[in-house]
Amino acid sequence: MPTTQQTPCTVTPTAFTSLQSLPQGYRALVIGATGAIGSALLACLHADPRCALAAGLGRRSSPAVDLDDEASIAHAAQQLKSQGPWHCIIHAAGVLHGPLGLPEKRLGQMNYAQMEATFRANTFGPALVLAHFAPLLPRQERGLLAVLSAKVGSIGDNRLGGWYSYRASKAALNMLLKTASIEVARTHPQAVLVALHPGTVSSALSAPFNGAQIGRPAGDAAADMLRVLDAMDAQQTGSFYAYSGEQLPW
Ligand SMILES: NC(=O)c1ccc[n+]([C@@H]2O[C@H](COP(=O)([O-])OP(=O)(O)OC[C@H]3O[C@@H](n4cnc5c(N)ncnc54)[C@H](OP(=O)(O)O)[C@@H]3O)[C@@H](O)[C@H]2O)c1
Repeated sequence: MPTTQQTPCTVTPTAFTSLQSLPQGYRALVIGATGAIGSALLACLHADPRCALAAGLGRRSSPAVDLDDEASIAHAAQQLKSQGPWHCIIHAAGVLHGPLGLPEKRLGQMNYAQMEATFRANTFGPALVLAHFAPLLPRQERGLLAVLSAKVGSIGDNRLGGWYSYRASKAALNMLLKTASIEVARTHPQAVLVALHPGTVSSALSAPFNGAQIGRPAGDAAADMLRVLDAMDAQQTGSFYAYSGEQLPW
């Protein structure tokens, strides 16, 4: 049985009450459930009366999902298969800074170690999540699979430069999501796979960049993204949306 988070939902009931587009008794998974946005998403799903089971996964859950450990991703998906299908799967993990430093401002600051760490967490790990968790979506019913990307990963919208590894890792994640959506549509015709931008949110990830001052509460972002997901139809699979419902350029 996966470890679940019991964080109280911080959103108002008018902002989000339920994923109406999913069947009564739907099951939901959040990967990265210890993060600010992941825990808020999980709290909303726990509070949804239509949701029969909402499970949170992360490095310390059981089963564990460590994006640096391919076997843990495969093992967790295998463990959760028997409780499936899972109608709503949200990948909410990611890194912007860490032991190797803050995001690069200039070309001269790029180094292999930081690029590799960023891509492992933001691109390669989520790619393996797509590979192992997309098969847990329902084949004959509607399913939602979202990965948290970032607007700064939009190539078309890049106006300021900087943050090389983070931007590139999210742009590559977007490509993986798009490519997976084409394959998954063949076996899961009602599935919607989408890359989501949560907006600037107060969290450990945004803290060094004044996130506490300029970011929104994670509960607001979670409620907005769930409403966006709820409204998407199968023709919109393989797209990139912001929390506001605005479609973003790749
Ligand atoms: N906050 C923003 O303003 C903002 C803006 C745009 C996009 N995003 C995206 O939204 C997502 C969530 O961000 P957040 O603000 O909620 O960040 P956060 O509070 O720092 O949470 C990050 C989450 O990622 C997990 N994680 C990191 N490396 C991992 C690994 N190797 N294996 C498993 N889990 C790992 C963390 O787990 P541990 O607890 O184990 O460390 C934590 O659950 C990220 O993808 C981020 O890029 C955020």
